[in-house]
Amino acid sequence: MVRGGTVLDQLGRRPADVVVTDGVVAAVGQGLQAPGGARILDAGGCLVSPGLVDLHTHLRQPGMEEAETVESGGRAAALGGYTAVVAMPNTDPPIDCASVVRDVLELAAASRWQVFPAGAITRERAGERLAPMAEMAALGVRLFTDDGAGVQDSRLMRRALEYASGLGVTLAQHCEEAGLAAGGHLHEGAWSSRLGIPGTPAEAEELMLARDLTLSRLTGAPMHFLHLSTAGSVALVRSAKAAGLAVTAEAAPHHFTLTSACAASYDPVFKVNPPLRDAPDVDAVKLGLADGTLDAIATDHAPHPQEAKELPFDQAPPGMLGLETALALALTELDLTVEEVLALLSWRPAGIAGLEGDHGGPVAEGRPANLCVIDPAATWVVEPDRLASRSRNTPYAGRRLTGRVRHTVVRGEPVVIDGEAQR
Ligand code: DOR
Repeated sequence: MVRGGTVLDQLGRRPADVVVTDGVVAAVGQGLQAPGGARILDAGGCLVSPGLVDLHTHLRQPGMEEAETVESGGRAAALGGYTAVVAMPNTDPPIDCASVVRDVLELAAASRWQVFPAGAITRERAGERLAPMAEMAALGVRLFTDDGAGVQDSRLMRRALEYASGLGVTLAQHCEEAGLAAGGHLHEGAWSSRLGIPGTPAEAEELMLARDLTLSRLTGAPMHFLHLSTAGSVALVRSAKAAGLAVTAEAAPHHFTLTSACAASYDPVFKVNPPLRDAPDVDAVKLGLADGTLDAIATDHAPHPQEAKELPFDQAPPGMLGLETALALALTELDLTVEEVLALLSWRPAGIAGLEGDHGGPVAEGRPANLCVIDPAATWVVEPDRLASRSRNTPYAGRRLTGRVRHTVVRGEPVVIDGEAQR
């Protein structure tokens, strides 16, 4: 039982206890009695929200277990308030057929975490031949992406959209026009010139986004756009939505909290793809999150081993950790209400991932008990060595944040209690 908190979901805010039995919410109301023997989680002064849902997590399994595993990434997610994560398919081997989907589902089933693999759009994520999306969809895969790379061939992308809409699944694009982006390691602009490191122009993202909006219109297929980072991208999605296209889009916390100036340190912890952009882009992403142009905050949690992130900037792999800091960054840095932040982190992404039956609330009798208890006033400092991820590549070391996850409940099981992951 979660006692003494304020329930906050898409239905609003109300002081209430939440009784959980057999993994399901049994009652929501004031002054409820705990069933005999029930564990009581104190939520005094806290918000009781539907668990967060991440549309964009790199769990690195199979194949890159030194960076992360389903187990370690799942624990990091739970500590961040997530009760479900969509695992990106750029593993080794990639998640591009039923047998690898099954492997990831088995790893998830053996853990306490709710992990939903995304499938690749093309075989080997090589952008040449379509992956067998039907056999992956039959195993429950709802999102498909070649994330880490965009599908370059427009004809193939059109066919992928037609195939996907027949299957009732959604394609999610990593928007990056490879020719224009080639050789870039940070955002092309004043800082790439000053530091002497080749950059990637904003237009490399915007070109593919504009193409895909056109293809979505041509095919009528819905699409989701991953980690949008530029003012131009936000404007493109805004006008596509105004024109009635069935598209959704996400932004990552680092794209509303950090700028290209971070690269001045030459520290590869600030290398990410798409790269950190300029202040006007950050402002546009924030506005997009505030006005509904961007539907979700997704972490793009991208763990990398320490030795890889100690290479020179132009040789280090792109990516940064995100799961354990996303909620606090959003609460601290965005000029939004807690309700608006939770919509972006929980119920809207649950809908995009097709998980609204089990995740993203509302907190109501009969619903699966996937919950997150948040202390909105608690402040804390990010300490890389205390993160649960196997990797340490957070760009927020030493940053003071407001808002902390106190408890996380997955299918009725308390997996985080008072900020500590349970074994
Ligand atoms: O920075 C990134 N890292 N962007 C991506 O698209 C892929 C990701 C990774 O897998 O490391």
